[in-house]
Amino acid sequence: MDVFDITGGNRLRGKVQIGGSKNAALPIMAASLLLEGETILHNVPDLQDVRLMADLLGRLGVNVKRIEPNILRLRVEDESNCHAEYELVSQMRASVCVMGPLLGKRRTARVSMPGGCAIGVRPIDLHIHGCQALGADYDLVNGDVLLKAKKLVGGDIFLGGPFGSSVTATENILMAAVLSEGTTTIECAACEPEVADLANFLIACGARISGHGTPRITVEGVESLHGVEYHVIPDRIEAGTFMVAAALTNGELDLLGARIDHLVAVTDALKRIGVHVRRTSDGINVAAARRIEPLEITTQPYPGFPTDLQAQIMVLLALADGNSILTEKIYPDRFLHVMELNRMGAQIRKEGPTVIIEGVKRLVGAPVMASDLRASAALVLGGLIAKGTTKVQRVYHIDRGYEKIEEKLQAVGADIRRSKGA
Ligand code: EPZ
Repeated sequence: MDVFDITGGNRLRGKVQIGGSKNAALPIMAASLLLEGETILHNVPDLQDVRLMADLLGRLGVNVKRIEPNILRLRVEDESNCHAEYELVSQMRASVCVMGPLLGKRRTARVSMPGGCAIGVRPIDLHIHGCQALGADYDLVNGDVLLKAKKLVGGDIFLGGPFGSSVTATENILMAAVLSEGTTTIECAACEPEVADLANFLIACGARISGHGTPRITVEGVESLHGVEYHVIPDRIEAGTFMVAAALTNGELDLLGARIDHLVAVTDALKRIGVHVRRTSDGINVAAARRIEPLEITTQPYPGFPTDLQAQIMVLLALADGNSILTEKIYPDRFLHVMELNRMGAQIRKEGPTVIIEGVKRLVGAPVMASDLRASAALVLGGLIAKGTTKVQRVYHIDRGYEKIEEKLQAVGADIRRSKGA
């Protein structure tokens, strides 16, 4: 397993090209199951999770081919297999996104119930509830969710759960509804830009959708959908991660292709901390502040502060002039990075879904263990600013969601090297 060796203290300065959004590309790839003909997707990042989704779609009869570094061609060639098996689903939760399109197009979906993961319990009760509301019969068979429907009829569906809206449940029900009869209204829909991007992709394929990006999405069912050439939105979480990197290292970065309108809550938080953030003609410019002000942050569904940047902003607050409070409202246990950061000298105390972060003068390099995708990114950020050397182990977690992160960091001055671990 690869490791990163990072020597902290370098200021990051220069330009970083932000890649395509992992969390938009994955459901859009799954939506290819709904289509007749060929689809070309641009700006698809070359990530482990994208390769896993391509493998899964291949087993479901979709021919997926990377025809250029960031361009995929997808074409459905065989609709006989409707079973997304445990072996693949257990490796990537986003596999659950094949449930809606399999049901919507083939009227049958058998998807292994995803297990939990490092960031917490990951139920899919809302996904099942939405499919049943469209007329599907549900059964649990040997750990697999089995959904069947003679026909799917649109209706009013409430998709709110104990933690608010659900991103992939909204995406699944959207994909199940586009070929259903009649009108479907999804109430308490997720508003994330990735959901809106999926809807825009489906509209380009001939779907009739309105309200995407708001809590109420309306779908008018159509007979069929055709392939299309489409450009995936940039990755706001990768962009946010580099925004924190610039702020942490007393540097300045131009994030090319980043969309500041997808990062309003993050920009607001960074400005309150004292960081300079401004829109440029080709993205976002971020420049460090002299002082890092403490802050109180709570993660929320979009447009609130994203849970996927909680670990990263925690590193910045660990070095603030004062105490900060960070509450995690989406995944209350998403704090595996806290103990690792404390091993680097941070003073962070967990009180249930909240952490109290006592600002310290510096972090000190240490061997640390990555646990999940975004926690791993936070440990890399910690290494960039820590005194001495930090060894981040199990970087395969990072490779799931960041394309060549060490090369992008090296290009703007970071002292980071990947080596083959034991
Ligand atoms: C998506 O996961 C993202 N993944 C996650 O990003 C992100 O952290 C999450 O949304 C929240 O923004 C993809 O888009 C592929 P949810 P998802 O359903 O859809 C509860 C990353 O790092 N819930 O919006 O699985 C759930 O437990 C990943 O890129 C139910 O109770 O998240 C959570 O507390 C990590 N029942 C909350 O809702 C359900 O049926 C939000 O989860 C579904 C979810």
